Amino acid sequence: MRKFGKVIMAAACVAMLLAGCHNARTPQPDAGLGAGDDWPSVNGDVAESGYSRLSQINAENAGKLGLAWSIDLPGEVTLEATPLAIGGVLYFTGSYAAVYAVDAASGKVLWRFDPETWKHNPQKMHFTFAANRGVAYRDGKIFSAAIDGRLFALDAKTGQQLWAVETTDPKGPQTVTSAPRLIGNLVIVGQGGADFGARGYVTAYDQATGKQAWRFYAAPGSPEENKGDAAQEMAAKTWSGEWWKTGTGGAPWNSITFDEQMGRVYVATGNAAPYDQQKRGAGDNLFTAAIVALDAKSGKYIWHYQINPADSWDYDSTQQMTLATLNLDGKPRKVLMQAPKNGFFYVIDRETGKPISAGMTTVMTWAKGFDVKTGKAIEEPGIRYESGQIDIWPGPIGGHNWQSMSYSPKLGLVYLPVGQIGERLLRGDGGPDAFNVMGLSTRPLVEKPGDGKASLIAWDPVAQRQAWKVQHNHLWNGGALSTAGNVVFQGTAEGVVYAYDARSGKELWHFDAGLGIVAAPMTYAVGGKQYVSILVGYGGTTAAFGDFMRVGWKYGQQPRRLLTFALDGKATLPRGTPPEMKVNAVDDPSLVLNPADVKAGSELTVQCAACHGIGMKSPGSPGPDLRESAIAMDMTALRKVLKEGVLLEKGMPQFAYLTDDQIRQIHAFIRAQARAAISAQTKGGSGTSASK
Ligand code: HEC
Repeated sequence: MRKFGKVIMAAACVAMLLAGCHNARTPQPDAGLGAGDDWPSVNGDVAESGYSRLSQINAENAGKLGLAWSIDLPGEVTLEATPLAIGGVLYFTGSYAAVYAVDAASGKVLWRFDPETWKHNPQKMHFTFAANRGVAYRDGKIFSAAIDGRLFALDAKTGQQLWAVETTDPKGPQTVTSAPRLIGNLVIVGQGGADFGARGYVTAYDQATGKQAWRFYAAPGSPEENKGDAAQEMAAKTWSGEWWKTGTGGAPWNSITFDEQMGRVYVATGNAAPYDQQKRGAGDNLFTAAIVALDAKSGKYIWHYQINPADSWDYDSTQQMTLATLNLDGKPRKVLMQAPKNGFFYVIDRETGKPISAGMTTVMTWAKGFDVKTGKAIEEPGIRYESGQIDIWPGPIGGHNWQSMSYSPKLGLVYLPVGQIGERLLRGDGGPDAFNVMGLSTRPLVEKPGDGKASLIAWDPVAQRQAWKVQHNHLWNGGALSTAGNVVFQGTAEGVVYAYDARSGKELWHFDAGLGIVAAPMTYAVGGKQYVSILVGYGGTTAAFGDFMRVGWKYGQQPRRLLTFALDGKATLPRGTPPEMKVNAVDDPSLVLNPADVKAGSELTVQCAACHGIGMKSPGSPGPDLRESAIAMDMTALRKVLKEGVLLEKGMPQFAYLTDDQIRQIHAFIRAQARAAISAQTKGGSGTSASK
């Protein structure tokens, strides 16, 4: 009998293919995980699993998927949000956090709410590119946050504003791009700004009134500010010098997960800043690059696990935190799973905050491995650019960034978008092709085989092992969705939506979306029919990390859209302009350029890089390629755009403080870069080579 039992076991394992046999042996404790007919939060459920229990669309019939309906979203550029589905209505945000409500069966737009940041606080448009990752819903209210730091409650039926609060200093460099999260009757939000040294925090507000309930800081303030706050006093011991003056960072700009079972909330914090530890206080620098558990009601500190003590590489650990119960050594354990930028996949005991295991998901040169005893990565020597320079994998773009992962409790696998890319970090000025931040220059490296590309991997969190991998051609793709129908969906930089068999990675279906995708798909059912929706809007950090994210999409030439698929969908998608890798740079050959102007212009355009690219080499989004711009050629027109802010409403910030001399220098640098692109092309190159 025992023998017979073993045979059946083996057969079950084969049937489950690469899912891992531990799932076949033990009942899954996470049966309730995932979303049903509704998709009530950006990552599907409270546990942030990114998983759907729907199975009408499944691995057997996914080949019959077709477009059910689509809508164009004029005026939008970067689209990072995952829509929510609530009772037959989809809710999502556009680039500058305009909120859309759309009928989920027909695609009819019901209302649109525009926070009009360009009117309210255009100053905030200087600090990052426009992107927003979505909304939260509870009891007839939609919660959204704008880049200018305001948190809104809207009437879900009408889009009318119920209340709004400023969550950041209106004059400071902090911005919000994340979807707010809900914890009981509170709504919580963090912010970005660590790259300017800002002290990060999360704030919880009453959902009914917007009244502040509590705030928790991700890094300590001055000794006076910390007085009497045990957690901040503890954190302050891990800093030295006058950290509150030189900068701290820790911005929790993305993931916050509510643990309903334990009445806790986990906050994922950003990088320490300035990046170079010599420029800030020595020590571990708590609570930067960490996960912190707080009491959900009071915001009081419970535990922390620091992913990267003394972070020196912009290694945010702000990535999605998924809660699950895994069978480990025969025992069900409540865990938190995260794949932060640094390349590891962490499984953490969420009762104690102790790491259980960490596996390496991509090329990593900063760590040899992970020591479970100390709970720390085993760092390679010399990685803190002691010699003034270091090449490191992954770079600050990360092995995994904000793009959603998805955990299938049915198969015990996590579907994770993973990138491979290095970075050169150098003390001092790295020249026009580098991003110079707070005395440190950073430049992406595409050197090793596979660099500059990403893949979708299925990761077994118990064995800390890759089950399968689909290789993509580019680095910056969308997030993942997995379903009980054993299908994984993902969109790519090249503009293709794929459905894969969740057990093997085998392609089941694909659809040409006509523009690159960085958002994650979601799924829902209305009227007994299952749909899959995804926002199409290549962009985001594409410019700030340089030319190698160029896929050929050009600003304003491909419509931004919401696409919705169903079995036997018959709608057609009007084609946009096809991608074009060539830079159609414009030039006035009679213009004589002064090298000193070009150099000064290069330094000035660091403030343009987030949208127009390092060295003005925008890969087409989130801002136009200025080497192709007739406006940038014409000093009078350029002056109007910069000083008068004539394109403000379209997302181009006003730079009223620039002097006429500085505008001439910016003009000279753009001309020099345009000429460089033209000469690279006439020499036979495409003018698009990655920085080497
Ligand atoms: C927050 C993002 C952002 C930043 C930062 C930014 N821009 Fe822009 N810029 C845009 C967008 C978006 C547009 C396109 C607006 C439109 O649709 O007309 C634009 C358009 C322009 C144009 C007009 C191009 C054309 O041909 O239509 C010029 C010139 C320009 N920007 C120069 C600059 C310079 C110089 C800087 C830095 C000093 C800068 N921008 C910083 C987002 C940005």
